[in-house]
Amino acid sequence: MRYSVFAGGKRLRPILCLAAAEACEGNDTLAIPAACAVECIHTYSLIHDDLPCMDNDDLRRGNPTNHRIYGEAVAVLAGDALLTLAFEIIGFSRPARKYSTGDMVHELALTAGSKHLVGGQVMDIEGEGGGLSSRELRFIHESKTAALLTCSLRLGAMAAGASPRRLAALTKFGQSTGLAFQVIDDILDITQSSEKLGKSAGKDMAANKTTYPSLHGLQKSRREAARLTSVAIAALKPLGSKASRLHEMAHYLLERDY
Ligand code: IPE
Ligand code: IPE
Ligand code: MG
Ligand code: MG
Ligand code: MG
Repeated sequence: MRYSVFAGGKRLRPILCLAAAEACEGNDTLAIPAACAVECIHTYSLIHDDLPCMDNDDLRRGNPTNHRIYGEAVAVLAGDALLTLAFEIIGFSRPARKYSTGDMVHELALTAGSKHLVGGQVMDIEGEGGGLSSRELRFIHESKTAALLTCSLRLGAMAAGASPRRLAALTKFGQSTGLAFQVIDDILDITQSSEKLGKSAGKDMAANKTTYPSLHGLQKSRREAARLTSVAIAALKPLGSKASRLHEMAHYLLERDY
């Protein structure tokens, strides 16, 4: 568990969680449990995503993948335990002004489960070999990736006791920027080296996955990511200047090179 969590990683989901709390005029310490919980879910999903029965990857966060060091059985169990730890952490957090601890646990469970992250991963694996439509691909990306990014923002906002209007704005921001994030991940898989990414490049093509660039080409995919980012930024309007960090994050997520 420690091997994969402390290997580094960009920590985008916790950063978005804390930035959302700030945008809702909350104190970020209230959002720390949610920020840790989403990173635990994310890291578990990476350990399982890399397993030989899934994407079969040898490199993650600049290091050999978990199963390459500890074996498949321990890698599966480390993932299981991180998934469980996320709920231990968020289940013990203090209730926020408008939302109970149960509301936050429910939000995280819904996102991590069969309707979003796990469901998206199932469709991603079943879609290997290609032939997905652009609607199907979009749905996979929304489920396997955008949902947890959106949840990170929503949990930060909930910890800050956000109004329904602010929560709705952050949800919209997360959906667009989250989809753009996976489009960029697909692009980087083609355009960057394994050294730069800290994970093996060129895997999507090798596994015959349908991706944004495989369906639409690199240029159109980049344009779509930029369009989604503008939609995301427009959604921040009701939050005013408090959302400046989220504004910067949206640009960073679009322009990142790893
Ligand atoms: C990689 O996520 C997996 C996807 C959902 C595309 P990140 O690019 O956020 O991975 P880390 O946390 O920085 O390693
Ligand atoms: C991973 O998508 C999504 C989740 C881990 C839920 P990818 O399979 O594209 O992620 P990378 O490229 O291996 O990081
Ligand atoms: Mg995958
Ligand atoms: Mg993968
Ligand atoms: Mg990828």
